[in-house]
Amino acid sequence: MNLPVWVNGRLMPSEQAAVSVFDHGLLVGDGVFETVKCVGGAPFALTRHLDRLRSSARSLNMPEPDVEAITAGVRACLAEAPAWPLGRIRITYTSGPGPLGSDRGDGGGTAVVIVAEQPSFPATADVTVVPWPRNERGALAGVKSVSYGENAMALFYAKARGGGEAIFGNLAGSLCEGTGSNVFVVHGGRLVTPTLASGCLAGVTRALTLEWCGGSEEDVPLSALYEADEAFLTSTTRDIQPIRMVDQTVLPAAPGPVTAKAMRIFAERSAADLDP
Ligand SMILES: Cc1ncc(COP(=O)(O)O)c(C=O)c1O
Repeated sequence: MNLPVWVNGRLMPSEQAAVSVFDHGLLVGDGVFETVKCVGGAPFALTRHLDRLRSSARSLNMPEPDVEAITAGVRACLAEAPAWPLGRIRITYTSGPGPLGSDRGDGGGTAVVIVAEQPSFPATADVTVVPWPRNERGALAGVKSVSYGENAMALFYAKARGGGEAIFGNLAGSLCEGTGSNVFVVHGGRLVTPTLASGCLAGVTRALTLEWCGGSEEDVPLSALYEADEAFLTSTTRDIQPIRMVDQTVLPAAPGPVTAKAMRIFAERSAADLDP
């Protein structure tokens, strides 16, 4: 289904929607984005996602995105879409057209909103640990930047080995995150997720899981993932997805009791409040 796309304030047919070939999102990956879940036609946690869009743009010293216009764009796109059980709203904001090098142009940013149906994720995930570290001291650490080449490469690596998600350690050898997900581990009944200092993205689902289900932020060695009693991924379109296998190591339970309880609480709380 070809649904209209919103570009810089205008809703247009997807086949006519276009941005400049000089856009720095395309030329140098200079931009930020959000993926927002929509449930039965309504966005989930839109306020948190727009806050993170703003803070990602701030981290890159980009001009503030016009979140009111983007919100109107989200509503306009959703008004044209069926009320899918699960949908995905992609918001992209780049620094706009610029020169061929890394210097930024000054013509203003590009904002795009696209909505699409989202197939639900499998009941469990097999994950593959990739040989490349996240740089927790890099300029893009924790920023939801459109420079996702490393993630695309890591996911390709994982899928070639039968994994559904790739997992990164960081330069310190600690567990970090997935290409599009945060990771939680359970050891002896304790629920732990890496700190933001590990270089992971401040996931909206990660934050809601910590608020609603408990757990602590602690850095653990990458090996803790293989040794976990239970582990799970969190992300906007997955919510909480139990991890079944890490490389060739099958975890004792997927979901184990801590994960199953977190899934139940997350489902209840997120159904009760669409913009927590
Ligand atoms: C690198 C990375 N980490 C974690 C996440 C999970 O964040 P959220 O729960 O906000 O979707 C994402 C989301 O796609 C991501 O791209």
